[in-house]
Amino acid sequence: MSQIRKGIILAGGSGTRLRPLTDSVCKQLLPVYDKPLIHYPLSTLMILGIREILIISTPKDLPMLESVLGDGSRLGISIEYKDQKEPRGLPEAFLVGEDFINGESVCMILGDNILHWGHLKMLWTECMALTEGAYIVGIHHNDPELFGVIECDENQNVLSLEEKPKVPKSNIVAIGLYFFDRRVVEYTKMLKPSARGELEIVDLSNIYLRQRQLSAKFLSRGVTWFDAGTFDSLLDASNLVNIVEKHQGLKIGCIEEASFNLGYIDEEQLLSNADRYANSAYGLYLRSLV
Ligand code: TTP
Repeated sequence: MSQIRKGIILAGGSGTRLRPLTDSVCKQLLPVYDKPLIHYPLSTLMILGIREILIISTPKDLPMLESVLGDGSRLGISIEYKDQKEPRGLPEAFLVGEDFINGESVCMILGDNILHWGHLKMLWTECMALTEGAYIVGIHHNDPELFGVIECDENQNVLSLEEKPKVPKSNIVAIGLYFFDRRVVEYTKMLKPSARGELEIVDLSNIYLRQRQLSAKFLSRGVTWFDAGTFDSLLDASNLVNIVEKHQGLKIGCIEEASFNLGYIDEEQLLSNADRYANSAYGLYLRSLV
């Protein structure tokens, strides 16, 4: 079965809701308890089995992200970098990443997405086997009007998708994780900017929906999702990671552990990763995995 091999992390934007925190550091490098925010979406892509990754950010922030994450070789993956000159909307990732995508299906995750789940293997296996159409991933949320809202019938077929509606048709919101087939670049080129001057992911998804080629996957209870874009959600995410890690003794979003468990690096490489952080509890944790 063919598998999606490529993933994009969209990690630019303006981070205006987090100012003054984002005056000097981009949102994706802010700490979420014991690691930078971008480690979480990166670990999600890795756990999905994606090893070819493109990180897109602003011209200002890209060098810093690159100096933190490098070319991915210490994790047994490949990381490339490209800049988005202005934050002109999420689908622009597919234009910036056109060469990287190179006519294949692709997964995109937003750089401020934190997902913590237990048993979703079936769901991810289906998403990763996508060859035709698109998948969006939804979760129940208390404030749907702040997000893209998915309306479905009783068989979980998508009926409509609306960005930040005043009157939401459901409590299911699209998290920032998308799977699109090879037509994504062609369809993105057909989009026109919305009233707020951006290309909209809802408009792109709606092209697939009109062809009955958009499916939604729903994350059930027990899955935790944060879009860490506000002061409260950033703090909530830190608190959640702290509580889970303290009680379970297992880390969330640990890219080195993901890499080791997936067999991308061996014990020696894991220990060399641990040496980078020799003086911190993070380094000790990595060492304890051997
Ligand atoms: P948002 O949180 O919607 O936007 P933002 O990061 O600019 O923050 P704010 O609303 O506080 O000003 O973006 C979600 C993610 O997508 C985030 O990781 C930034 C990224 N993004 C881009 O990289 N390019 C873009 O054009 C947009 C709109 C977002």
